[in-house]
Amino acid sequence: MILLGLETSCDDTGIGIVDDTRAIRANIVASQLQAHQIYGGVVPEIAARAHLDVIDGALNAALQEAGLGLGDIDGIAATTGPGLIGGVMVGSMMGKAIAAVRGLPFIAVNHLEAHALTPRLTDNVAFPYLLLLASGGHCQLLLVRGVGDYHLLGRTMDDAVGECFDKCAKILGLGYPGGPLVEQAAKNGNPQAFALPRPMLGRAGCDFSFSGLKTAVRTIAQDAVVKNGELTPAFVSDMAASLQQAIADSVADRAAHAFDMLDMPVTAFVAAGGVAANQVLCARLRRVAAQQGVAFAAPPPKLCTDNGVMVAWAGLERMRLGLIDTLNIGARPRWPLEEIRKA
Ligand code: KG4
Ligand code: ZN
Repeated sequence: MILLGLETSCDDTGIGIVDDTRAIRANIVASQLQAHQIYGGVVPEIAARAHLDVIDGALNAALQEAGLGLGDIDGIAATTGPGLIGGVMVGSMMGKAIAAVRGLPFIAVNHLEAHALTPRLTDNVAFPYLLLLASGGHCQLLLVRGVGDYHLLGRTMDDAVGECFDKCAKILGLGYPGGPLVEQAAKNGNPQAFALPRPMLGRAGCDFSFSGLKTAVRTIAQDAVVKNGELTPAFVSDMAASLQQAIADSVADRAAHAFDMLDMPVTAFVAAGGVAANQVLCARLRRVAAQQGVAFAAPPPKLCTDNGVMVAWAGLERMRLGLIDTLNIGARPRWPLEEIRKA
């Protein structure tokens, strides 16, 4: 079984092809970074138009990379939400058009489910597992019991963790997207340089909060500008390292609490979503998993950030269970994991 996946919910046009032996046949990601960089964030209207400009070429490139034609594909999966609606419509209409013309099954994929199931493709993780879903728009801890079967344990009460990385990177003048740039800058910094708060540390449950941390970074940065007239490279590196450490400590504490909330043993602790590309965070989470006596898994960085492979894989998992969608399914800007169709 070979699935084609289309991802257009944010600022990456991703086309992926996977098969049921867990082989990745193609992974084409056309990033719109440059189009949005001058605005310091993603502009929805620009994103939608850019997807439309490149999606056809990306599809051809993916088929070429795989050495396949559309006649070799058994099903078409596309992200139909949650995300920026203009972009979601571009990918889902493209997917529906191919499915209609070729007479193929169409699978409407929830973007979060695509992130959540990726470690089953990359690490063959078995259900049930504890999942940290950490991206630019989401920050949740979930028990994944099966395809479409998600139990939310905790979520952020304000900013998502990727949003915290992005906003702090902007304060530090590092650019967008902030996560990778903070991780890079932190390599030359001292994680103990600034005593930043560890939001929610020790609190009952496993909800997150990051807005206080962002405010702390802003206040210290503003004071530094008043004092020195600018943010020095040494300041930026030290702050990036301190921020990354504070986030890692906070997320590790929340994850440990999530283990206490589980009502069944899990096979693994899994991190997914763009922020799971952060190696310092992953090293910290690996320790949490080890303390709990379970394996830790996170996809390689290029499968943590948005891509079409994860959509193709989620489509494959759903198609194997007979979860096919009709072509009149809509695009959903908001679509919590708990609302996914299971049968
Ligand atoms: O999953 P994703 O590509 O898109 C969303 O669905 O949001 O996640 C993007 C987020 C951005 O906030 C970005 O700064 C963050 O993931 N990110 C990282 C790293 N790479 C991407 N955060 C921390 N460290 C990284 N290496
Ligand atoms: Zn994502």
